[in-house]
Amino acid sequence: MVGPCVFISRSNLPSIIYAELNKLPIEIRMWKETGPMWSKQASPPREVWVEMFRNCVGAIVTLGDTIGRSLINEASKLFVISTYSVGIDHIDVKAATERGIYVTHTPEVLVEAVADLAMGLLIALARKIVLGDRMIRAGEIHDKWGWLLGNDVHGTTMGIIGLGNIGAALARRARAFNMKVIYWSRTRKPQIEFALGIEYRPLESVLNEADYVMVTIAASPETRHLINEERLRLMKKSAYLVNVARGDIVDTKALVKALREGWIAGAALDVFEEEPLPSNHELTKFDNVVLVPHIGSATYETRERMAEVTVRNLINVLMGKRPLYLANP
Ligand code: DGY
Repeated sequence: MVGPCVFISRSNLPSIIYAELNKLPIEIRMWKETGPMWSKQASPPREVWVEMFRNCVGAIVTLGDTIGRSLINEASKLFVISTYSVGIDHIDVKAATERGIYVTHTPEVLVEAVADLAMGLLIALARKIVLGDRMIRAGEIHDKWGWLLGNDVHGTTMGIIGLGNIGAALARRARAFNMKVIYWSRTRKPQIEFALGIEYRPLESVLNEADYVMVTIAASPETRHLINEERLRLMKKSAYLVNVARGDIVDTKALVKALREGWIAGAALDVFEEEPLPSNHELTKFDNVVLVPHIGSATYETRERMAEVTVRNLINVLMGKRPLYLANP
């Protein structure tokens, strides 16, 4: 078929994407890989990107695809890059904007799923759920007093770093668990404070006061290693760190040091500086660490909604309409 084409960087995205595109007089060009959405290994090689960006009018991409300025400069016919993610840190949005290319993404539809996972990680960590499971499977059950004792969740303080949609959804869950909630965000949100009964604090105070420090802030060059050695040292020895945002917001080396030297009680991570996290990584050696492989939005329902938004965003731009969620400033 000769005509405009849309490139899709994976062949295992929900079928609604292909079904909706098939209704249009366009050619779908698809990369053959089926790896997880965050996988850089599953991303097409540069020569494929260059060819697609030169020839196609739209591209559907995922978290593992790094779309930098040099690639964007190759785009001659491209109108829209629609990412199957809320995060846009893998795309040089400024470069795209300068070239008049729309960048769209999927906020809102995954908020509740990510907040659910964050709460689940917190409880898994506090109540040693993963460790208990591991012990049963290893036949290591015994009844020594103190064995597998964890920490209360109710009546404690949650500290949220970044009060976007996910942070606010998490705050609602924490309030239902009878937790006090404090937060730090680059912009203060008085309406949410009032509506949810939560309190703003400077970043240092959140780290200092919280029993559970929850990282939900969006990734950007400014947030890289926001949680560094100095800030980890501000946390209470009894406090836990949970990161469901992006791996590079937390300095992994500093976190490993904090865990090894007992500056904090433990950590739960859905995201890593290196994804997939190698199975022999130092983080895997700690019993007080819970690790999951970037599954924040990984429910059938949420991924389906993300796909609907991703394809609708792209089609809207191609039809000259406003996309549902635009990431360009
Ligand atoms: C996103 O969409 O950016 C999330 O990280 C998926 O879990």
